[in-house]
Amino acid sequence: MPLPANTFVSACRRQNTSHTPVWLMRQAGRYQPEYRELRAKVGFLELCHRPELAAKVTIDAANWLDTDAAILFADILLILEPMGFDLEFVKGDGPAIHNPVRAAVDVERVLDVETPESLGYVYEAVKLIRRDLPKHRDLIGFAGAPFTLACYAIEGGGSRHYDKAKTFMYQNPQSFYQLMQKLTEATIGYLNAQIAAGADVVQLFDSWVGNLSLRDYVAHVQPHMKRLFEGLTKGVPSIHFGTDTGHLLEAQRDAGGDVIGLDWRANLDESWARLGSGVAVQGNLDPILLLGPWSEIERQTRLILDQAANRPGHIFNLGHGILPSTPPDNVRRLVDFVHEYSKR
Ligand code: CP3
Repeated sequence: MPLPANTFVSACRRQNTSHTPVWLMRQAGRYQPEYRELRAKVGFLELCHRPELAAKVTIDAANWLDTDAAILFADILLILEPMGFDLEFVKGDGPAIHNPVRAAVDVERVLDVETPESLGYVYEAVKLIRRDLPKHRDLIGFAGAPFTLACYAIEGGGSRHYDKAKTFMYQNPQSFYQLMQKLTEATIGYLNAQIAAGADVVQLFDSWVGNLSLRDYVAHVQPHMKRLFEGLTKGVPSIHFGTDTGHLLEAQRDAGGDVIGLDWRANLDESWARLGSGVAVQGNLDPILLLGPWSEIERQTRLILDQAANRPGHIFNLGHGILPSTPPDNVRRLVDFVHEYSKR
């Protein structure tokens, strides 16, 4: 039997649903043999740039897993290209930006992209997905949050401590503000264009914001996040995600978002109690658990679902993305288990 329609969107709005909706970050990716086969022929950026391929990868993963939602296949760093950054995904090394921001003057040359038309291939993928995705699965559009994007733009790639990005923020607070502002305005246009193309919900990935103290979050990030959420098309639910944000949850909630993402470190029930009943929550299984054994996956999934206790407004997910070494069958079994165990 197909799943009932719009369960995921309803849960984002804290409405009653007949089961707990589930989708998984990185549900399309290298843990899947079909994806690896495709990637042997097509580079990652090329895959993102080709709407018909990105749409197929998105839809196949959601259909195979039977998730309540599909997430657009793309990357948070794509928006940096029309802003003037030279982006590359280096095999085995992850993303590289060859012209990072290192001085205040570098911020001046970052292009303003209020409606980033050069990202038309993303909107085209959204349209194709919404056309071909079964109606009972909702479609998530997404973008990187300004702080996480600024980290990449300044570091020039991934980093352990984000020392260059944070030092830039402390030493050049005005230029950092200007960079955050440019990223914020570009992201509002980008997400609203995804919504216009057919995204049912949007998620903001602030993956590295947990690196900041609450004090620095409030001073350097929260005002931009408020502006960003206020700028989004009304009536479309938004998800505010970060990792290692146990100390930031209330501040993130105050910045905006209908749903707050929780990583695996904290208990879901305690975090939700802190956030209050005015928001939905998404999470929060440790993605490492998916490596197995199944008995432990099931035990911890039950614990999370028991903590949520079928209250309206819980979306089951991992605390962060699926790892490439994950056995695909564990992932599929998890989705089935969540549906079965949470049936009202
Ligand atoms: O979740 C999904 O299934 C949708 C697609 C998606 C990707 N990246 C595809 C991808 C999403 C939502 C993202 C978001 C993203 N990208 C984030 C935020 C989420 C998070 O993980 O914290 C970040 C920080 C990035 C930046 C990025 N992209 C990195 C650091 C890397 C390299 C590390 C890695 O996992 O390979 C990527 C590459 C990337 N993005 C891949 C995929 C499927 C792997 C590319 C490949 O096929 O080799």
